[in-house]
Amino acid sequence: MPENIPAFSLGPIPVFGDLILAPMSGFCDPPFRALCRLFGSSISYTPFANAIGLLQGAASAWDGLRFFPEERPIVFQILDNDEDRLLRAVRQIIKLHPDAIDVNMGCSVRRVSSRGAGAGLLRDPAKIARIMDNLRKALTIPITAKIRLGWDNDSRNYLEVAQAIEESGAQLIAVHARTRNQGYSGKADWDAIADIKQHVSIPVLGNGDVHTIDDIERLKRHTRCDGVMIGRASIGNPWIFQRRSRDEVSQPEIAAVIHFHLDRMLDYYGPKRGLILFRKHLARYISPFKPRKPLRYQLLTCIDVQQLRFYLLQLGLARPTMSSLPTINDSPLH
Ligand SMILES: Cc1cc2nc3c(=O)[nH]c(=O)nc-3n(C[C@H](O)[C@H](O)[C@H](O)COP(=O)(O)O)c2cc1C
Repeated sequence: MPENIPAFSLGPIPVFGDLILAPMSGFCDPPFRALCRLFGSSISYTPFANAIGLLQGAASAWDGLRFFPEERPIVFQILDNDEDRLLRAVRQIIKLHPDAIDVNMGCSVRRVSSRGAGAGLLRDPAKIARIMDNLRKALTIPITAKIRLGWDNDSRNYLEVAQAIEESGAQLIAVHARTRNQGYSGKADWDAIADIKQHVSIPVLGNGDVHTIDDIERLKRHTRCDGVMIGRASIGNPWIFQRRSRDEVSQPEIAAVIHFHLDRMLDYYGPKRGLILFRKHLARYISPFKPRKPLRYQLLTCIDVQQLRFYLLQLGLARPTMSSLPTINDSPLH
C-alpha cells in the first residue's frame, strides 16, 4: 500500500500502516515503542494503566503513560471494573493529551479479571456499553476497546460485545482472538475476528498467533481486518514491522539495533535501571545466536554497560561505528 494512503482511521486520525505493536506491560515502554514505530508500527498503545493507581497518584501508573512526541498517534489504555472510577481517571489522564483512550477488556490475569476488570468486563456487555457511552460523552478524542472473544468457550459473546462497543460510539476495536480462560494458550480463532469484521463498520485490529510475516498476510486475508496487532513476536524482533523475516536481517543490522535499543534504555531510565530492564529484550535478541551457556549467563546478568558491549562483541554483535538509525527525542512529553 502506498505510504501516503492511510490503512484506516482512528476517528479523525489517519493511520499510515497496518501493523501495530500490541500493548504489553513490562515490554512496551517508550524506548521499545519508539523503536517499533521507526520500523513501521503505526500506533503506540501504552500498557494498561490501572484507574485505581492513577486516582491514588501512584507514580508507577502515571509513569506508564509517558510517551515520546514522535509516537503519535498515542493511545492510553486504561483498566478498571468501576464505571465512575474509570471516568474520573480518564478525566485526569486526558490532561496529558493522548490521541485516544482504549479500555482494556482483555486482561486475563486472575486478580484483575475476577474482580470484573479487563476480560472480566466481557461478562457484562451492558456495563461495557455504559462505560463506553460515558467516555464518549465526556471526551472529544476517539475511544477504543481491546477485547477477547468472551470469558470461556461457553460464553463467546464477542459479537454482542463488539456491537455494544460500536453502538456506544467507539472508533476502533482490537480483538485478541482467545477467550479469557484460554489465557495465552490454545489457538487464536481467526474466524471470530472475521465474524466481528463482518458485523461492525469501525476498524478492527486482528491479534493472536501472528509469529511470522506469512501469518500477517494470512490473518489479513482470512479476516479482512484493517490492521494486525503484534505482541510477543515483536520482542527482540522489531523487523517484523518492516515485514522482514528475522532470518533475512544481517548480523551487523541486528547488532546496530541491539546497541541502539540499549542506548535508548540507558537514556530513558538511567544506566542502572536501563541495563536491567534491557535484559529481557536482550534475551530475545540473542537467542537465535545460541550463545554458549556461560556467555549467555554473562550477557544476561552483567551490571556494567561496557562489559555488556564486550560480551556482545564476543557474540559477533559489535557496536557499529556509525548507526543509520535516527535519533529518538530523549525527552518524553511529560
Ligand atoms: C507480557 C505481556 C503483557 C501484556 N500486557 C497487556 C496490556 O497491558 N494490555 C493489553 O491490552 N494486552 C496486554 N497483553 C496482551 C497483548 O496485547 C496481546 O493481546 C497478546 O499477547 C496476544 O498477541 P500476541 O500473540 O501477538 O502476543 C500482554 C501480553 C503479554 C505477553
